[in-house]
This record gives sequence, C-alpha cells and structure tokens, in this order.
Amino acid sequence: MPTLRIHKTPPGPRARALLQRMQQCVAPSATHPYPLVVDHASGCYVWDVDGNCYLDFTAGIAVSAVGHGHKQVLGSIKAQADRLLHFSFADFFYPSYVHLAERLAQLAPGRDPKQVFLCNSGAEAIEAAIKLARHATRRPYLLAFYNSFHGRTVGAVSLTSSAAVQRRGFAPLLPGVFHAPYPDPYRSQTGNATAECLDYIENLLFRTVLPPDETAAIFVEPIQGEGGLIVPPKGFLKSLRRLCNRHGILLVVDEVQSGMGRTGKFFAVEHDGIVPDIICVAKALGGGLPLGAIIARKRIMSWERGSHASTFGGNPVACEAGLATIEVIEKEGLMRNATEQGSYIQDRLRRLQRRCQLIGEVRGRGLMIGVELVRNQQTKERAESERDRVVREAFRHGLLLLPCGRNAIRVSPPLSISREEVNQGLAVLEELLQ
Ligand SMILES: Cc1ncc(COP(=O)(O)O)c(C=O)c1O
Repeated sequence: MPTLRIHKTPPGPRARALLQRMQQCVAPSATHPYPLVVDHASGCYVWDVDGNCYLDFTAGIAVSAVGHGHKQVLGSIKAQADRLLHFSFADFFYPSYVHLAERLAQLAPGRDPKQVFLCNSGAEAIEAAIKLARHATRRPYLLAFYNSFHGRTVGAVSLTSSAAVQRRGFAPLLPGVFHAPYPDPYRSQTGNATAECLDYIENLLFRTVLPPDETAAIFVEPIQGEGGLIVPPKGFLKSLRRLCNRHGILLVVDEVQSGMGRTGKFFAVEHDGIVPDIICVAKALGGGLPLGAIIARKRIMSWERGSHASTFGGNPVACEAGLATIEVIEKEGLMRNATEQGSYIQDRLRRLQRRCQLIGEVRGRGLMIGVELVRNQQTKERAESERDRVVREAFRHGLLLLPCGRNAIRVSPPLSISREEVNQGLAVLEELLQ
C-alpha cells in the first residue's frame, strides 16, 4: 500500500506550469474544486505530475469501479484495439455492441424483455431516454426533481436542477419540463418526505400545470448524487412506480452514478424491488472509456429505423472495456465489497459525528456515501465554506474527495478498495473533520 506522499505542496511546479498554459487555451466552464493535475493512477491511488501520491475517494467521479488500470479491463481494451478500433454501429454491425447489449438486458431488473441503445455519456443516455419516452407515449411533458443532476446537454440540463449556474445564460431550455421536491429525510418539514413529495406531484402539479395524461415520463435518480448525495426514504421509488402506473407515465431511472454495483447491487433500484421502464447508465459502464446506455422494456422501444443513432455510440473498444468491467465486478465480488466497506465507512463517520458538531448526517448505500456538514447539529445550518475547506485540505493531505450539493462531501472510491485503504483515507478525513 503506497503512503500518501505530498513532497511538493500541490499544485507543484509542473502542475502550476500546466494550469497556466491551460488558462490560454481551455474553456473555463468546468468545476475543478482543487488543482489536481493527474499523471497516472493504479488501483485506488493517483499520482500527480509532481510525483505526489493521493488516495482516490472519487474514482474519477464514480467511474473507475474496478480500480484504475485493472489488468483485465486493459487487456480487453488492447485486444479490441488491435482487432477493430471503430466502425460505426449507426450504419454497420459488430459483435461487442451486441454482446454488451445482451449483458445489460440480462442484468436489468424485471422479467420483461429489454432492448438497449448505446451512446457515449450520461447526458446522451438521458437525451435518448427523453426522446424514447416522448416517442413511445406521444406525450409532451416531463417531470424531474429539484436538486437532480442529469447532465449538461440541452435536454439533460432542462431536467437538471442542482445549481443555477448550470442553467444561467442557456435559456430557453426544453419546454414542458416540470420539477418536484426530492424527498430528503434529513430536511423534511413533516417527517414524511415521501408523502410531501407525492402530495406536491398529485395535488399541486397534476391538478394545476401538468396534466398527468400528457406526461411522458418521470426522471429520477435512485440516490441523488451531485445534488447532495440524498437517499430517499425506503418505499419512495415504489410509490413513484405506482403513481406512474396509475397515469400511464414511464418511470425513467438515472443510474448513471448509482449503477454498476456502486450501491452494493448492480442497479440501485434493486434495493427497492421496482422495475423501471427505462434505465440510464454511463460513468463506470465504459471502464474508463466514454460509454452510456439506455435499457428499455422492449414493448416501449418504439423507435423506427433511422430515428436515433450515434457515430461513436457503443464504440467497440468501450464495449469490450464495459464487458470486462462487468465481469470483474462479478468475479471479484466487488458489490459485496462495496456493501462491506461502505457500512464500515458510515459506521466510523457516525461514531465521529457524536463528538463532531460539523457532521449533520452520514448517509448512503454501498460506496455511494455523503457526509452533510452543518454549523450546528440542531439548526442544521449549512456549512458551505467549511465543506469546501475540508475538501481542499484533504487534497493537500493526499486524499481526493469531491463536494456535492451545497454542503456535503462525497465518498465514492473504487469498489475494489480494501479495508486498509479505507482506514488510510478515513484517518485523514476524520482528523480534518475534527
Ligand atoms: C446521475 C447523473 N446523471 C447524468 C450525469 C451526466 O453524465 P455525463 O457527465 O457522462 O454526461 C451525471 C454526471 O455526473 C450523473 O451523476
């Protein structure tokens, strides 16, 4: 296990030089919570261009599920690259696309047959789901949730509502999109967050501005990731499924961040035992290469020939990386590991919470964990600047974390992380939180 070695305070000289060059030629729109300039990575560790070594509690934003540079994934990528790098599935056929589609259709919950469309990213998967939901239902309206994050393309950002900066200057966005409050048990006014949310949809939206019989789909993250790592109460997704059934609305779950085993099951919705109409996947799916997918019930896959396609979507190398990633997740028991390490992390942080006023709540499933920071545990005042400081200081101490929402820290290491590595990271985090 490498020691976390910060021998040149980051950003070191090489990182600084690159960041300076970047200012001339790179669009400044990305978030960049701290100046990490990565050179290489292996397993759960990352080295920057100045030779500093960090433990990765981000997995490159929940992408590197099996750890950086896993031999089997790299082997599959290299073998496929030698055989065939590209031959667009928009006009032709090749086996790896079909193999991955078969695998995803098998893995999706529910006995109905499924069909799969492959694309390049999470946002593209959301775009595909919007187009399919409208096409299949011939209804115009869409409902999503406040604080959600579904991506940055115009359709996806019309659903996204986790920060105004993601929308400012881009209007008009897609018409016909409405939002409801996502059930947040920690900040619920009544103690029944699910009832508050359903009441808003049924008794406010559906009775005033959003006719349910003209609503194509409800888009929901099983756990809100970017919006603050919010875990809805048990039973929420089941209630949403029932509401959709009552009105003939499609239920689209965005598993871009929560899928691929991160929560301890392949799809997070499996914890709730519901069967969505469309599942969106990306991030970890491509094993580090760009790849996204929608998995839809076959009976709603209404697209006719020529109606939707992509030059690069389901690129053969990315598909082989995806197939290898799925195999490694299963073969190496990474979903079980996510459950075990995740419970251990949550237990340790909850124990710390008793003597650390800054921790308002620790929540999550598997290795999708959020720590909400507050100035006072009674008033729950959001500790926004404190959160930013913890994330920045962790970086300076060799631990990579990401912020989420206004005042939460996200812990989402590779699913392959060992107990020793978890302890190494928690030692840094606990000290900073105290
Ligand atoms: C839940 C969710 N959906 C969609 C997206 C968009 O994915 P991408 O950045 O690949 O477009 C993200 C990205 O963070 C996400 O977390």
